[in-house]
Amino acid sequence: MSAQAVEFSATEKAAMDAALTAALAGPRGANPLVGAVILGAEGEQLATGYHRGAGTAHAEADAISEARRQGIDTKGTTMVVTLEPCNHVGRTGPCAQAIIAAGIAKVIYAVDDPHDPAAGGAKTLRAAGIDVTSGLGYDESLDLNREWFDAVAAKRPFVTLHIAQTLDSRIAAVDGTSQWISSAESLADNHALRRLIDAILVGTGTVLIDNPRLTARTPDGELSQRQPVRAVMGLRDVPEGAAVRGTDGRFRHLPTRDPAEALGMLFEEGVRHVMVEGGSSILSTFLAAELVDELIVYLAPTLLGSGTPALNDLGIGTLAEAQHWAWDEASGGPVRTLGNDLRLHLRPAGRAANTTKNSIPQKNMVSRSDAAEYVTGGH
Ligand SMILES: NC(=O)c1ccc[n+]([C@@H]2O[C@H](COP(=O)([O-])OP(=O)(O)OC[C@H]3O[C@@H](n4cnc5c(N)ncnc54)[C@H](OP(=O)(O)O)[C@@H]3O)[C@@H](O)[C@H]2O)c1
Repeated sequence: MSAQAVEFSATEKAAMDAALTAALAGPRGANPLVGAVILGAEGEQLATGYHRGAGTAHAEADAISEARRQGIDTKGTTMVVTLEPCNHVGRTGPCAQAIIAAGIAKVIYAVDDPHDPAAGGAKTLRAAGIDVTSGLGYDESLDLNREWFDAVAAKRPFVTLHIAQTLDSRIAAVDGTSQWISSAESLADNHALRRLIDAILVGTGTVLIDNPRLTARTPDGELSQRQPVRAVMGLRDVPEGAAVRGTDGRFRHLPTRDPAEALGMLFEEGVRHVMVEGGSSILSTFLAAELVDELIVYLAPTLLGSGTPALNDLGIGTLAEAQHWAWDEASGGPVRTLGNDLRLHLRPAGRAANTTKNSIPQKNMVSRSDAAEYVTGGH
């Protein structure tokens, strides 16, 4: 796939930059970060939208709604969007139809929908007489969601790895106590994430030591309406009375030590975003296998000097083999203060240079039914 040789105006380029910036406000996860800008006849930016995560309006519909809120007539306008408008009927309705209904005359998008380029929204838009071009902001848009593109191509869930650690990278004290290393604000942030993801995953060790519930709860301890699947990975049995089993049928035991196999099992069940929460062995195995798309570290200003380290051996023997991570500007930015803690947000550095462009599904690599399942499954 390559960018089309099309000339774009300065206002269209500025609109794509604005759409890319808007996209950053969304959460990483099962769905891509997408931004959209509606341009008027003189190239003025009339309305901006972005996608706030699975189950919410897509960026195009969000921009159209924003224009309506402002009383702006969208007929004859241009929409500039960072990903090909979708054509599928998921939980939010196809964007292509929303664009047609809004009377938009021209659509410029950056990258094809990787699920099925041949049957994406561009074809529907063109059939409706809309002028459609692509390729503007292609590299930037690909970079924005490179881990998401990789996960789609690999048919595995998007993986967020979460660590709550002390300044000296400990996740539990010598006696095994770990609740709670992080502040109430960090815990609340973690529980807000638990409401968005499809599954949470820990190792059998954590279950046997901490007996965690792994539910999503409000700050006052109530169960949130939306609950993730609670997955425990490892060969040992999970005790009958373990809290993680619960009574809602959302518990899964994944009897494997292979992280790729565990992800495959979850994907089969419709899970598209998993948060790996620990302990050290599980965090390390996902990192060593380079199966982490997003890293969230809650760093507490506490020292233990001993206890359980956040990570075990990653198989790195020399500095030249170190794993490199990049600060992630998306979803609240790279560093935030949460109560007494710092919340660090990172994404893999360098992985994409070798893989992303090659891993975007080519025509027919992902079937239409797979695409519908991917976008709608598990939520
Ligand atoms: N602060 C935090 O954010 C946080 C979060 C979670 C846990 N923790 C702490 O982490 C500690 C537990 O860490 P942990 O390392 O003992 O437990 P763990 O990572 O939760 O589980 C380890 C177990 O997972 C199984 N396993 C599955 N795949 C594996 C693989 N590829 N490699 C190795 N083991 C694999 C093994 O058991 P089988 O024999 O059953 O296969 C292994 O004994 C606890 O003290 C807990 O409090 C802290």
